[in-house]
Amino acid sequence: MFSIQVPATSANLGPGFDSMGVALSLYLTVEVRETSDTWLVEHPFGKDIPSNHTNLIVETALSINPNIEPHHLVCHSTIPMTRGLGSSSTAIVAGIELANQLGQMNLSDRQKVNFASQFEGHPDNVAPAILGGLVVAYYAPKKQETFYQKIDLDSLSFIAVVPNYQLSTKESRSVLPSQMAFKDAVEASSIANLLVAAFANKDYTLAGNLLEMDLFHESYRSPLVAEFQRVRQLAHSMGIEGTFLSGAGPTIMTILQVHQAQAFYKACQDDQMLSTNCQIYKLQVDHEGLMVR
Ligand code: HSE
Repeated sequence: MFSIQVPATSANLGPGFDSMGVALSLYLTVEVRETSDTWLVEHPFGKDIPSNHTNLIVETALSINPNIEPHHLVCHSTIPMTRGLGSSSTAIVAGIELANQLGQMNLSDRQKVNFASQFEGHPDNVAPAILGGLVVAYYAPKKQETFYQKIDLDSLSFIAVVPNYQLSTKESRSVLPSQMAFKDAVEASSIANLLVAAFANKDYTLAGNLLEMDLFHESYRSPLVAEFQRVRQLAHSMGIEGTFLSGAGPTIMTILQVHQAQAFYKACQDDQMLSTNCQIYKLQVDHEGLMVR
């Protein structure tokens, strides 16, 4: 028996839309048990998630290697689902690793990132889920290849305010414009480029400022997340900049220095609107990514 562990991810990081993400300390674990006549997936995700070969983990694995034998899988997860923390990406990555292990495919990280980006359509969740840490990535559809760079991060804390409602990526993408003026695109990508440089140079003060300057998506999506401005304002009242919508939302993420984390965590818990409508998590960066034990 072996188990596959995949971390949650927070994608976009404000202006890094569809191209930046960070792996965080919440996990999907898939125990791979005995062989079985048919695929059997035990999981805690409710009746809407299949328990047979149509489960996303198995479907992904079979699409990469149709010859692997059916097994009994047992899933555990600490990742809230459909909340902008990459839960479906963790299933895709776990499926790729399942095929890799059972089919003895000896896939490289680069091959895993490529497969996963093709499944997901964009690499910002799957690349950090595989590689760990902060990853900047671009999937080139014509070449069918994902280019990426991992950036070393110091110990940072992340406070995730997770609303008690789901927001699908499909719905959250449906409110985005189909076009952007050239001048606006130049401005938006300048901010994103500088954010990458700020992280690479470990200038977390500048990174915090830029995280809040996104021009690609947050202004369109924030009306869908009633708690978004509240969290940002609460952080500002404590002198903290670095609050953004995690992935397609509705989770609201704040990056902070380790010494600031406990006070902000407590302030979120003490806020009546946030503590009533949301779960609040204190997280760290997962530097390792996908693990097999
Ligand atoms: N970059 C994606 C989005 C992440 O914001 O829609 C969610 O899959």
